[in-house]
This record gives sequence, C-alpha cells and structure tokens, in this order.
Amino acid sequence: MKELSLHLLDIIENSISARADNITVEIIEDTDRDCLKMSVLDDGKGMDAEMLARVTDPFVTSRTTRKVGLGIPLLKAAAEACNGRFDIHSEPGKGTRVSVEFQRSHIDRAPLGDLANTFLSVVIGSPQIHWVLNYQVNSNRFEFDDQPIKDELKDIPLSDPEVIKYLRNTLKEGINSVQLN
Ligand SMILES: Nc1ncnc2c1ncn2[C@@H]1O[C@H](COP(=O)(O)OP(=O)(O)O)[C@@H](O)[C@H]1O
Ligand SMILES: [Mg+2]
Repeated sequence: MKELSLHLLDIIENSISARADNITVEIIEDTDRDCLKMSVLDDGKGMDAEMLARVTDPFVTSRTTRKVGLGIPLLKAAAEACNGRFDIHSEPGKGTRVSVEFQRSHIDRAPLGDLANTFLSVVIGSPQIHWVLNYQVNSNRFEFDDQPIKDELKDIPLSDPEVIKYLRNTLKEGINSVQLN
C-alpha cells in the first residue's frame, strides 16, 4: 500500500468489526533510533490461538474455507520489508493489540499519508466507540481523546458539519504540530 494510513485503516476496521468499545491508536516516530512504530489496541472480541495463527500466515489462511482477508499479512510483509517487525496479541473476550515497527529511513517505508482524515473518518463513522489517538515524534506529543468533545457536544452528533470541521482542524493542527519540517 502507498501509505501507512491505509494499513492503519485496515487494522482499525478489524477492531471495529470485533465490536470494540474502546480503540487506541498510537504512532511513535523516533529519529535517533530510526524507527516508526504503530499500534492499534482494542477491547473487542479477540481471537483464540488457532485464529491468531491463521491471520498472520497468508498461506495457511488461503487453504481454509472461511474467508480471511489480507490486511494483517500485508502489514506484516510491509514491516518486514523495512527491517521492521510485526506483533499481535489477542485474548478471546478481552481484546487485541496489533503492533508494527518500521526502519523509519528505509527506502521502501511508505509515508504516513493523511492520518488526520483517516482518523476523522473512523471517529465519525463509529461514534459509539471511544477513540484515542497518540502521535509522538521524538519528544513532541499530540494526544486526541474524543470523550471530552462528546461530553461537551451532548446531543449534537459528531456528523454535524460544524463538528466535523472542528474535528478535522483539531486533528490536522495537532498532527502538524508534532511533525518534523
Ligand atoms: N482486532 C481484531 N479482533 C478480533 N478479530 C480480528 C481482529 N483483527 C483481525 N481479526 C480476525 O482476523 C481476520 C483477518 O483480518 P485481516 O487480515 O485484516 O483480513 P479481513 O479483515 O479482510 O478479514 C478478520 O477477519 C478477523 O476474523
Ligand atoms: Mg482487515
């Protein structure tokens, strides 16, 4: 995929499908250690060991009758192509954590892409979920938690055009403020 945001979207959609109530996305860039880490943590239905083994291995999944997609194997392959690694932990009934690490300066490492609009679309698309975004570049940190905003809005939906504008600006400015120029 051309952008890491698209990989992220795929992993986040898995968490939404798993009926999570809380989803936390963390992205950490460290120029000294030359790494870019992304993780998605959810409290959805989780997976048992057998399912976990199948989702990370495209060759195993392709031989099962159950339809299993390629979101996870593609992200794993992208990380491993950039001296990185992929990690998944899951417990049935508890939730799942997907973590991935890339060598930040690797020639094949895709750009982050439009993180603000990617995150905005999932927040608006699933307003019943409590969303947290942590984005850190070296010592600069941006934290977005949608709960205080929802509390403030009371009965106004997140899909209200003025609210969308506010959310987009908050995310764009926050993300820009920590990024290196
Ligand atoms: N966060 C998650 N919680 C529970 N199950 C998950 C999660 N992520 C992935 N899965 C399971 O792994 C399968 C494969 O995921 P993925 O590789 O993204 O392909 P797809 O989403 O197209 O099925 C999903 O269909 C789902 O059954
Ligand atoms: Mg998927």
